Amino acid sequence: MKTKSTRRWVVGAVAAFAALSLAACSGGSSGSDDTKGSGDSGTISVGFSQLGAESGWRTANTESVKAAFTKDKGFDLTFVDAQQKQENQIKAIRDFIDQGVDAIAFSPVVETGWDQVLQEAKDAEIPVVLVDRTVKTSVSDPYATYIGNDFTKEGETAVAWIKKNAADAKIFELQGTLGSSAQVDREKPVDAELGSQIIGKASGNFTRAEGKAATEAALQAYPDMTMIVSHNDDMALGAIEAIEAAGKKPGTDIKIVSFDGVRDGLQALHDKKINYIVECNPVYGDQIADLVKKVVGGEDVPTRTIVPDEAFDQTITQETIDARKY
Ligand code: AHR
Repeated sequence: MKTKSTRRWVVGAVAAFAALSLAACSGGSSGSDDTKGSGDSGTISVGFSQLGAESGWRTANTESVKAAFTKDKGFDLTFVDAQQKQENQIKAIRDFIDQGVDAIAFSPVVETGWDQVLQEAKDAEIPVVLVDRTVKTSVSDPYATYIGNDFTKEGETAVAWIKKNAADAKIFELQGTLGSSAQVDREKPVDAELGSQIIGKASGNFTRAEGKAATEAALQAYPDMTMIVSHNDDMALGAIEAIEAAGKKPGTDIKIVSFDGVRDGLQALHDKKINYIVECNPVYGDQIADLVKKVVGGEDVPTRTIVPDEAFDQTITQETIDARKY
């Protein structure tokens, strides 16, 4: 397999030869210096492996990425949706390596299982920008930089609200995709601080349908639950449907604490069906693009960039919700 530096040399040599030929023919300028794949003055080719389209958050994140990596802004983006399957992501990343892109960005669906493909990207000298979720790997210097939200802090924010506002809650935890950093890191503080109050857990895989199904089962298994901590709004919205179908009042009989802050979630908060939402801001495509540019250009970048989040309670106004972009 050709390494990135070999490819760069070949691309450069071909471009130089083409420029000389053109100059010889026209007796003048070599024209555009837009050498695709050079990463210097030309277009930057980027392979982006998005993990799926499972939630409102993901849709907003994808839109933000696509709006940031446009031709006008100097990018040639290959975007692949993995449909929440790790094997699809690994295949997409291998395809990007074969294409010889200038940079790879990806949101890993789960934390583990990336060693080999990260090593392959490293051997090909293609920088990797890790987006949204983190990985656990034995590869040294496996990626150039990471950008995403601080899931542990989000979990801590939720815990602080619960301790203050529903200290005796009997909690059912609606988990995100098991083994994803969003699930693992949000859950850690909840377990550490409220462990004795957790009466059950199940994964809803970050989707509304699976959140609804998991809640239906939980209502049967844990009839004494008084709170659901849902790892995202989509699952919380599914839980609301299940609670209402069971003849109970979400937000009152069973309180709900959730993460994300997508418009539908915030509307349910305003309608008093959710009690508290810790934001997870998905709109940072421009920041990813900026990091990719710097990494490809050989500039120093921070190892970790954290996207700031807020939190919302039921005092949220309709104006705030209407102004929300996602
Ligand atoms: O990784 C971020 C999480 O993934 C969001 O909370 C969730 O909605 C998404 O599916």
